[in-house]
Amino acid sequence: MAELALVVLAAGMGTRMKSAIPKVLHKIAGRSMLSHVLHAGKELGAAKVVVIHGPDMPGVLQEARGVIPNCQFSEQRERLGTGHAVSMAKEALAGFKGTVLTLWGDAPLVKADTLRALAAKIDAKHRMAVLAFEAENPFGYGRMITKGKAVLDIREQLDASPAERKIRLCNSGYIAIDNELLWQIIPKLSNKNAKGEFYLTDLVKLANKAKTKVALATCDEMEVAGVNDRAQLSVLEREYQREARRAAMAGGATLIDPDTVYFSADTKLGKDVVVEPNVFFGPGVVVGDDVEILANSHIEGTVISSGARIGPFARLRPGAEIGENAHIGNFVEVKKAVIGKGAKANHLTYIGDAVVGAGSNIGAGTITCNYDGYEKHLTEIGENVFVGSNTSLVAPVKVGAGSNIAASSVITREIPPDSLAVSRPELIIKEGWAKRYRSVKKALKDAKAKGKG
Ligand code: UD1
Ligand code: CA
Repeated sequence: MAELALVVLAAGMGTRMKSAIPKVLHKIAGRSMLSHVLHAGKELGAAKVVVIHGPDMPGVLQEARGVIPNCQFSEQRERLGTGHAVSMAKEALAGFKGTVLTLWGDAPLVKADTLRALAAKIDAKHRMAVLAFEAENPFGYGRMITKGKAVLDIREQLDASPAERKIRLCNSGYIAIDNELLWQIIPKLSNKNAKGEFYLTDLVKLANKAKTKVALATCDEMEVAGVNDRAQLSVLEREYQREARRAAMAGGATLIDPDTVYFSADTKLGKDVVVEPNVFFGPGVVVGDDVEILANSHIEGTVISSGARIGPFARLRPGAEIGENAHIGNFVEVKKAVIGKGAKANHLTYIGDAVVGAGSNIGAGTITCNYDGYEKHLTEIGENVFVGSNTSLVAPVKVGAGSNIAASSVITREIPPDSLAVSRPELIIKEGWAKRYRSVKKALKDAKAKGKG
């Protein structure tokens, strides 16, 4: 197959999103729509990627570089139509020999295989190909005007005759075209149409005039569905999640109630992972084999090693690393902390900016006081430490291996290995005190009642 160059259209601000950020930066499964499209493109191993963006969109450039570091950019200053938008890639594609694929930055579900099949349609006879789908309701889409397997033209909704409007085979907008042909015919686009725009779709007619056939590839409607507003964003999110759940189960995870588990585009699950209901995976989660994630847990930016048990009601935040067979229980929050092999924090605890050694036990109510109001500090707990319930560890602080901390202690200094640390007010016990107190109280009450009578 010829070399590939991708042109991603991301110039629209997306007014109907009612948002301060460009439309393509809105997210599906924790990943921007632009990033989804670029990931699909990246899988194709394209030689060049050009993103067409609108004025003043530094976020779009940054996002694209995050996926494709040597990505090229071109600004479309005025919105004169999809054909005009693609023409902005002229300089970036000068001298390129191969096939150009145009992608929408706001249609994030497209699969690499579909794009590959589209690009594969290009040969000596077919120097252009378009991707089409059977629309449930074709209203608003460009209709494919075909003869046998060849595409002759694409008619936009507003320009279509009543007969053409009945056609259900619609234009996805994705095209593959030989680079040389593209720049030969794109200057011939005209804006004499209902919208007064330079339509990318008119390239089909122009290609036919240039004596090349235009091939047809097809895909499912959902795969090329675009987002114009937040309701559509949520429809694609739902579709993406359905697919992600299917993939997780196909990969060997048990989801007790799949519809209640939410994945990010980059979530990685090992084998024999069990996920209970109502679990949310934010970006950056890697889960090892034989891990149990119990109900109602929220996990992001975390690596969980094999055999660990998480939740119910656990919150794992970015930078958490949970060791093999470790247990993180209910109402435990872990942030930027390494929890050693077999360590346990089973109840009601905050561990932030910390290292917990293997085999250590963190009692209920333990808090790492990591923030002094200005800066964050580290708590280092050695191996096999027993931290009693309700301990406050005031960071920066170190606890030596094998130490015991008595319940309710406030630890402000380093504890050497194998020590006992106790910090709490002396316990005072006065035997019989409560009984005497009760009788005094009763006598006073009786006297008062008598006075009233
Ligand atoms: C376009 C196609 C239509 C197809 C449909 C699929 C054309 C003329 N029509 O119609 O055949 O069925 O997509 O969804 O191509 N954009 C720019 N700069 C511009 C104009 C548009 O970047 O100057 C971007 C928009 O932000 C948008 C995309 O291109 O993301 C599509 O543009 P839009 O005007 O919405 O085209 P449609 O009417 O949807
Ligand atoms: Ca559109």
